[in-house]
Amino acid sequence: MRSPVPCSFFLEPTPLGSSLQEKYVVQSRVMMNIKVLLGSTRPNRFADKPGEWILSKLQQNREVSAGLVDLRDYPMPFFNEPVSPSSATEPFTNPAVQAFTKKIEEADGFIIVTPEYNHGIPAVLKNALDYVYQGWQKKPVAYVAYGWTTGGARAVQQLKHISLELQMVPVHRSVHIVNFKSFIDTSGVFQSESFEKSGDQLLEQLLWWARILQDARKTT
Ligand SMILES: Cc1cc2nc3c(=O)[nH]c(=O)nc-3n(C[C@H](O)[C@H](O)[C@H](O)COP(=O)(O)O)c2cc1C
Repeated sequence: MRSPVPCSFFLEPTPLGSSLQEKYVVQSRVMMNIKVLLGSTRPNRFADKPGEWILSKLQQNREVSAGLVDLRDYPMPFFNEPVSPSSATEPFTNPAVQAFTKKIEEADGFIIVTPEYNHGIPAVLKNALDYVYQGWQKKPVAYVAYGWTTGGARAVQQLKHISLELQMVPVHRSVHIVNFKSFIDTSGVFQSESFEKSGDQLLEQLLWWARILQDARKTT
């Protein structure tokens, strides 16, 4: 992995053995803005640990501008607008909703970090998903889930259905942290070794789609 650089292009060396060896080709590549969305807001949540882990993996990719979206920072009421976001002709007025909508709109893709609550997703996450429409569309989404026996598999199945309705592109590979508490060591540090491979596969799939859809959204 390359180290992160704060620019929108990078340099690649030309093939070895030619007089062009010293020269460089500039490839214009727009950064992909990927948001890691935490699906739990409760005190003592586990969500921070896998959230920080996947965020740090994203930050190692120099084509990515990665950021965390913590729903604690967007205290949105339970959805109570007079029209659905898909048919709203004016922005909703609640400041937290407006700020959240703006964050989602600037993204090229998402990783949702979610626990499983009663075999589904947390209400706070569903509420946040419901508040936005256009901002989710034509963008890829991947999931890092955790729980006891299934590692949040049922939450991810729900999220895939919801994401499709929001016209997102769910990627195939997810990370599932089964028996999540067993991956916290005595110092409280998340032991991520078992998930590095599936995390890399998730990122590969997400960024493949993010690049393609970023280009496609510009022209259609
Ligand atoms: C309301 C509620 C329902 C839960 N239901 C499930 C469940 O269906 N499956 C599961 O594996 N864990 C379940 N759990 C346990 C959670 O996996 C565990 O509390 C986890 O820490 C929640 O994530 P968080 O700490 O990031 O909020 C539930 C927890 C809560 C609070």
